[in-house]
Amino acid sequence: MDITQPVEQQVLSGAPTGDGPLAVYRHAVSRKLIVSDPAQAAAAERLQALWSKLRHYDPPARLARNTLLGRFLRRKPVDEAPGAEVNGLYLVGEVGRGKSMLMDMFFATAEVPRRRRIHFHAFMQEAHRRIFEWKQANPGGEDPIPPLADRIAGEAILLCFDEFQINDIADAMMLGRLFEALFERGVVVVATSNTVPDDLFRGQPGRDAFLPFIDVLKQHLDVLVLDSQQDYRRMRDATGDTWHVPPGPAARAALDRAFRALSEGAPVRPVTLTVMGRALAVPQAAGGVARFTFSDLCARNLGAGDYLAIATHFNAVVLDDIPLLTPDNHNEARRFINLIDNLYDHRVKLVASAAAQPDALYPDGTGAQAFERTASRLVEMQTEAYFGLAHLT
Ligand SMILES: Nc1ncnc2c1ncn2[C@@H]1O[C@H](COP(=O)(O)OP(=O)(O)OP(=O)(O)O)[C@@H](O)[C@H]1O
Ligand SMILES: [Mg+2]
Repeated sequence: MDITQPVEQQVLSGAPTGDGPLAVYRHAVSRKLIVSDPAQAAAAERLQALWSKLRHYDPPARLARNTLLGRFLRRKPVDEAPGAEVNGLYLVGEVGRGKSMLMDMFFATAEVPRRRRIHFHAFMQEAHRRIFEWKQANPGGEDPIPPLADRIAGEAILLCFDEFQINDIADAMMLGRLFEALFERGVVVVATSNTVPDDLFRGQPGRDAFLPFIDVLKQHLDVLVLDSQQDYRRMRDATGDTWHVPPGPAARAALDRAFRALSEGAPVRPVTLTVMGRALAVPQAAGGVARFTFSDLCARNLGAGDYLAIATHFNAVVLDDIPLLTPDNHNEARRFINLIDNLYDHRVKLVASAAAQPDALYPDGTGAQAFERTASRLVEMQTEAYFGLAHLT
C-alpha cells in the first residue's frame, strides 16, 4: 500500500462511480489501494442494494403542516414517497474498520440529487441553532420540530451522518421527534457509529426518556455490524516527530520548533475567536497555527462549538502537556475526545506532548470506550499520509 498519498483521495479518483459503491470498493481492492476484507465487502453489498433502490430518489418537498393546504394534503396517506419504505442503514463497528470509507463510497456514488454528508456533531449544532433562531422569529410557543424537519428535508433527502453518537441530554430529547419527522418526510439516513443503537446513551441520566428514539432508529434503519478484524488506522506508519512523551524540557523544545516550522516564522500573538457570540481566547497564534496547553482547552468548560471554531480556523494545533487521565478526569477526557474529533474531521495537523502514547492515556473511566476511537485517530494523525491531507475549513 502506498502511504505517501492519502488513500481517501485515491480510492475515488478514476473509480467507476456510475456503478455504485460495490464497484468502487472492488476497484480500490484490485488497484491494491486497500486490502480485501470480507466484512467490508459484505457491507459494500448492502450499501449497493440501498444505492440501487435510491437511484433518482427525489420525493417532492412537502408543504409545511401549518398552512391550510398543507393540512388538507396531509389527510392523504403519508407514504406517497416512492422510497418511503427505505429509510436507510446504520453502519456500526469498532474504530478504524472502514465505516466512514464505505459510507463515503456510497455518498460519492449515490444518484440522489439532494444529498448531504455531515459529521453528526455539526448536524446537532446546526439543529440547535436553527431551533433557537426559529423560536426568536416565532415567539408564539409553537413546536419548532416540524418546520425544522421541513427545512432539513427540503435541503437533502439523503443524509449521511458520520459518527453518530449521543452525549447530551438536550440532543437525546430532541432527536426522537426530529428523526420521526424526517422519516415521515421520506428522508433516507445512512450513519456510521461505534455504538449499536441499544447502547446509545446507556448509563446516562435521563436514558429512559431516550428509549423511544432507539425504537425509532431500529424501526427505520437496518443495523449493519462491520466486524472486520483489523483497525486499518494502525497499518499506517507514524512519522515519529509529532507525539512527544513525556512532557518536559525536551518535549517543550520540540514543540517550540514544530510551532515555528508549521507557522513558517509568522509573528506569534494572542487572538480571539468569536463562537456563537462568545469570545474564545487563543493564547498563541501564528499564521494558521495555534498553540495551547491541554488545560487551556480541556480543563475549562469549552464545548463542541469552541472546538469546531478552532478546527476550522487553524490548520495546525500544537498542544502541550496532555496528562494521564483518570476516572476523576472524565470531563477533561470528554472534552479531549470532542477536540480530537473536530481536529481529525477537519484534517487539522496536531503536534503534542503527552504523558503516554495515545492508547494508554485514558484506560478507565466514563467514556474510556469512546476514547479508543480517539486513540486510534491520534495514531493516524501522526502519519505522513494524514499530514499530507488538505485542511477542511
Ligand atoms: N481494507 C482497507 N485496507 C486499507 N486501508 C483501509 C481499509 N479500510 C479502511 N482503511 C483505511 O483505514 C482508515 C480508517 O478507516 P475509516 O476512517 O473508514 O474507519 P472507521 O470505521 O470510520 O473508524 P472510526 O470508528 O474511528 O470513525 C482510513 O484511513 C481508511 O482509508
Ligand atoms: Mg469513521
